[in-house]
Amino acid sequence: MNAAERAARLRAEIAAHNEAYHVFDAPTIPDADYDALVRELRAIEAEHPELNVEDSVSHKVGAPPSTLFTPVTHAEPMLSLDNVFDVAELRAWSARAAKTLDVSSEELVFVVEPKIDGLALSIEYVDGVLARAATRGDGRVGEDVTENVRRISNVPLTLSGNVRTRVEVRGEVFLAKSDFVEMNQRQREAGQKEFANPRNAAAGSLRQKDPSITASRPLSFLSYQLVELGGASSFTRYVETLTQLATWGFLTASETTTELGATAMIARSDWFEEHRHELRYQIDGIVVKVDDLAQRTRLGFTSRAPRWAIARKLPPEERTTRLRNIEVSVGRTGRVTPFAVLEPVVVAGSTVAMATLHNEDQVKVKDVRPGDLVIVRKAGDVIPEVVSAVSEPGRRRKPRWKFPTTCPACGSVLERVGDESDTYCVNPACPAQQLQQIVHFASRGALDIEGLGEQRVAQLLGVGLISDVADLFSLHVHDLSVLEGLGELSATSLVNAIQGAKTMPLSRLLVALGIRHVGPVAARELAAAFRSYQRIEAASFDELAGVAGVGPVIAASVVAYLSEDENRDRARRFEADGLTMVEPQVRTTLEQTLAERAVVVTGSVEGYSRDGAEEAIVARGGTSPGSVSKKTYCVVVGEAPGASKVSKARELGVPMVPAGDFEILLESGSWRTQLA
Ligand code: IVH
Repeated sequence: MNAAERAARLRAEIAAHNEAYHVFDAPTIPDADYDALVRELRAIEAEHPELNVEDSVSHKVGAPPSTLFTPVTHAEPMLSLDNVFDVAELRAWSARAAKTLDVSSEELVFVVEPKIDGLALSIEYVDGVLARAATRGDGRVGEDVTENVRRISNVPLTLSGNVRTRVEVRGEVFLAKSDFVEMNQRQREAGQKEFANPRNAAAGSLRQKDPSITASRPLSFLSYQLVELGGASSFTRYVETLTQLATWGFLTASETTTELGATAMIARSDWFEEHRHELRYQIDGIVVKVDDLAQRTRLGFTSRAPRWAIARKLPPEERTTRLRNIEVSVGRTGRVTPFAVLEPVVVAGSTVAMATLHNEDQVKVKDVRPGDLVIVRKAGDVIPEVVSAVSEPGRRRKPRWKFPTTCPACGSVLERVGDESDTYCVNPACPAQQLQQIVHFASRGALDIEGLGEQRVAQLLGVGLISDVADLFSLHVHDLSVLEGLGELSATSLVNAIQGAKTMPLSRLLVALGIRHVGPVAARELAAAFRSYQRIEAASFDELAGVAGVGPVIAASVVAYLSEDENRDRARRFEADGLTMVEPQVRTTLEQTLAERAVVVTGSVEGYSRDGAEEAIVARGGTSPGSVSKKTYCVVVGEAPGASKVSKARELGVPMVPAGDFEILLESGSWRTQLA
């Protein structure tokens, strides 16, 4: 294929991807692969100027608007950003800008902000009133989405104070990561196709014919550009415009900083790379802008992007790879989960060779088959998952994968209950379930027995040293000499770790037992109310259900668990082996400032881990439920809060307390400042 043919092929491919992404909100390849195609086309065009035709897709932004919405011609074009892919290219960009301005790049002031992976929106205000809102479209003509935008809760409908007759506020419509996860969870439960990523979910939610659908989705708008129409700007620096936007009530990125000089600017962009997972929105890069508006004018634009700004793209969190096979694993509750065996690929900085497919319905909806090329996503510390298959025209696919009918571990017939999407192995003696139960027993949130991971447990089961968690406590160092790869020193540490677990608090033991519905929160409530395992065994259903935060479902599950002989026998063995099975008395010297009060924490609170903040509330007599309701006393809003909790609190009029007042809240049960 010669260069002209390759360029033509690339243009056709890019145009098709543009349409899938911008018109149908359903990209078929990861952004990074798309970027690679555009880069290849640009490289060919640079090398062969005769191929660099005016209307090549390489000069265009987005795709023409769909016919679903009325077209809107932007008063000023909505441009895109040029990309760089590493620090060297970023430095080169700043050096070029500095050269044009005839200054040193260490003298330039840069604004560094997150590149939010959402969709661009321009909102026009006439005399301070929201008049029209449009998507970017092809940069020149976008789509009229005014009615939908009016229903985004954090978009101001009017601007007060210092407003020009006509302004356009531009920014990004996005879904917070936590809201995206929740939305996909709901899609999954409803047996519907999941959204590929927060951007698609946001785009799909905004570009709805029925504005009430948009209203039901937790969309947010973040602004990063003020366009003043008619006359000269009233500002000299970009950061002043950001302050103006914030004063009008627009959300701006709290992580944005100004940096003097390229070195500081690059360091800040590295900070974003390091902390990208902690932000509440998905970012696909960092945007660096020259702050001085007069300097911006001198730098000007290319046909598609400003020269005064650049996007540093971050390594992708989605990659394509080949799906080798689909297998299933059996969990401690007997749930059978399909997972993908992949050709290993580096995603978000770590090698991924397996990814979850959640359940039978998801495999069907996604229609991924062994042999397919698939998109794998890994965001932060989330379990990697297969998003979708990539279509490969002309390639013969294998037949659809079938969910097994029998358990791969014990051979018993698998069951799907009612309209749930999950499949279970219901054989209580299934070795795979036993293995996972023991692994869970020793895991971090449970008895936290160091050195007792899946491999070690499998070995112990394999040689017949244990068959139940209760067998662990009578293991001796000399028993372990039969285990391959375990020296005497490690064997001693393991036995010590097991013996050390005997005095773990009752709440941890309750978690470790894996009683249905008894998670860390219920376990703490039960342990605090009854203080010993024996007292829980002696409690009636009503007594259990009467504990705050427990309720009938959990109580019934505990009663069912305790009524089984096997479980009662196990408890007797624990007693005989010297497990304490009590909850240590909490310090009662702390004043119960939050007695009977439910305090919800969202986002991270400085100085506290997630559990730590909850424990501090519990130590003050309060509870810390996971969701906001009418009964919530207040919501503590930390860094990167969940948008759904915040909007729920607003809706119900529950006070929102900044994390800076958390200590005061603990000490006095009240606060200094309250968020609007
Ligand atoms: S500035 C003329 N700032 O990225 C400059 N864009 O790839 C206009 N984006 O079209 C854009 N975060 O949709 C800017 N902090 C940010 C951004 C941002 C996300 C999006 C925006 C833009 C695209 C370019």
